[in-house]
Amino acid sequence: MTGLFYPHPHSLLLLLLPIFFIALHAAAQSNNPISLHCHPRYCGDVLISYPFWIIDNESTTQYCGYQGFGINCPTIGDGILPEITLGGDLYYVRLIKQDSILLSDINVSLAVPGPPKCPRVRHGINLQTLPLDFTTSNANLSFHFNCTRCPSFATEIRIPCFFERNERKACVHVMNTITEEAEYSCTEKVVTTVVREHINEFPNLLTQLGEILPKGFELEWSRTDGCEKCEESDGRCGWHNTTGLICFCSHGMDSRANVKVPSLQLQFYFQLGKFIVYTSKLIYR
Ligand SMILES: *[C@@H]1O[C@H](CO)[C@@H](O)[C@H](O)[C@H]1NC(C)=O
Ligand SMILES: *[C@@H]1O[C@H](CO)[C@@H](O)[C@H](O)[C@H]1NC(C)=O
Ligand SMILES: *[C@@H]1O[C@H](CO)[C@@H](O)[C@H](O)[C@H]1NC(C)=O
Ligand SMILES: *[C@@H]1O[C@H](CO)[C@@H](O)[C@H](O)[C@H]1NC(C)=O
Ligand SMILES: *[C@@H]1O[C@H](CO)[C@@H](O)[C@H](O)[C@H]1NC(C)=O
Repeated sequence: MTGLFYPHPHSLLLLLLPIFFIALHAAAQSNNPISLHCHPRYCGDVLISYPFWIIDNESTTQYCGYQGFGINCPTIGDGILPEITLGGDLYYVRLIKQDSILLSDINVSLAVPGPPKCPRVRHGINLQTLPLDFTTSNANLSFHFNCTRCPSFATEIRIPCFFERNERKACVHVMNTITEEAEYSCTEKVVTTVVREHINEFPNLLTQLGEILPKGFELEWSRTDGCEKCEESDGRCGWHNTTGLICFCSHGMDSRANVKVPSLQLQFYFQLGKFIVYTSKLIYR
């Protein structure tokens, strides 16, 4: 657990003096002193890295990452499953790469233990106003439920679990540039996104929806507002409950993410039992 103090420098100087050299030693050993809060951490067997972060009992006070990019790590069955909420819906985090994240809808994900999931999608993917976007490696699928007959562009689905409450036909279409205009006799339409390569890998779309959908879709992120200066100076954007946006930078931390970072920071770290106590003083030149 990490504590964070903002002491008056003089009041703590005497207290800190005995451990000062230990502290300098610790700081000197670290090549990249960007805060511990910014280090990638495992959630189950998925490595969670910036700008994503793990929701825990410290992240209510501060975290290193973008707002809305928090990942929960609940224990489900025998394992820990990383989950993110987007637009009120839960997604399982399959992989975080250098510049993209692979998610799959919890409702169709095979990673979640329990009875086999029906690959019936329940909702579209709502990215809200988060700085996230679909990558170009995806394709969209449109699902049409409770149709008198399938629209001419779509194909009928015969997977039994698709039919609830005496619904009539269900149909699917790999969306392309052709607009979905046809005589329409369905009562519900849901659009979801999958990695295009998985459609090619399982050519029989109609019987292999249960293989394709759980593999998920890919999103990329763009820099969140207010983090330009911080990230351009090799910092990491974060949030603190007292100051809002903060910058974890190679010099330490600054409460304002979008300002010039201090030219020098004195850092003190010491260990108190199992706690690492961190305190610092910023020097502007
Ligand atoms: C935070 O969680 C850890 C375990 O995840 C626990 O050991 C610690 O006591 C918790 N701290 C607080 C303040 O709740
Ligand atoms: C910020 O978090 C700390 C530690 O959890 C808490 O004591 C404090 O009340 C919080 N401040 C605000 C403004 O929420
Ligand atoms: C779909 O997932 C949501 C959580 O996002 C859950 O509340 C709901 O029960 C799931 N529905 C089905 C039919 O699996
Ligand atoms: C899929 O739909 C989303 C919006 O729902 C859109 O942003 C994206 O460009 C579409 N992807 C393709 C490959 O058409
Ligand atoms: C399916 O469509 C019929 C005819 O429009 C409608 O009466 C029925 O309520 C619909 N069922 C569901 C589950 O939406």
